[in-house]
Amino acid sequence: MNIVALGYIGLEVRDLAAWSKFCEGVLGLMPAASADSGRRYRIDAQAWRIDLAEGDRDDLSYAGFEVADEASLRAIRERFHEAGVVLTPGEPELLARRGVTELVYCQDPDGLRVEVYYGPTLVTDAPFVSPIGAGGFVADSQGLGHIVLTASRIDETRHFYRDLLGFRLSDIIRMGLGEAGALDLEFYHCNPRHHTLALVPVGAPKRLLHFMLQARVLDDVGFALDRVLESGAPLAQTLGRHTNDQMVSFYVKTPSGFEVEYGWGGQEVHDDTWRVARHDKPSIWGHKRSLA
Ligand SMILES: [Fe+2]
Repeated sequence: MNIVALGYIGLEVRDLAAWSKFCEGVLGLMPAASADSGRRYRIDAQAWRIDLAEGDRDDLSYAGFEVADEASLRAIRERFHEAGVVLTPGEPELLARRGVTELVYCQDPDGLRVEVYYGPTLVTDAPFVSPIGAGGFVADSQGLGHIVLTASRIDETRHFYRDLLGFRLSDIIRMGLGEAGALDLEFYHCNPRHHTLALVPVGAPKRLLHFMLQARVLDDVGFALDRVLESGAPLAQTLGRHTNDQMVSFYVKTPSGFEVEYGWGGQEVHDDTWRVARHDKPSIWGHKRSLA
């Protein structure tokens, strides 16, 4: 009776035209029908996964988490109710806009709009086709990918995502900050994807540090890196392999300033065999910012 996937994200962006180019020409995402004047993109059979709306925030404006069915949604509502957190039911107009069967929403401790839903729209008669020939993404039952959020009140935020939504800790990476000390980054899973959510315990003007898309084959990461270099989009971190999920990836800066991680080969987590670990660095090799 927990969250089973990150289903979709809504981004509020200043430069919609630059974002459209970036999504299609660099990331290789498939344009999808949009419910309004913004843009939507697909990465698998789900009708849409990323929603872009024009606005000043250049940040994540909402995250949609999927549960399996009505009973799971009811169980989550009861858990929130017992914890004293009000979940507002989505109006029919909102359900139609999101293309889901039922939805409730609230705000996380730092004010991010969080939606919980079941029953997304699938468009199996029009399979995912990338406009620039990208091979496809690891998505479907593993959801969109992962998001990394800043959390100014880590105890409350951990309680919200772990105890109320049902995320499980995968591991922790201690990031050394020199004389400033160190930060513990917490990585959480809700399906076999190593992490769907990571929390960085700092207050920041923006919530989203990056979102991650996982290619099915390594060559698609290489092709995407070539497109980044050709397009002039700023490379934020060079190719590297992470310590915890073992993902081979690079990071590119989006037109909004936060980053996209484009990766391949993340190891999977299975609750019956997984053991929580600690790491003292984020990467085995690569992921250099100074050379980017
Ligand atoms: Fe990541």
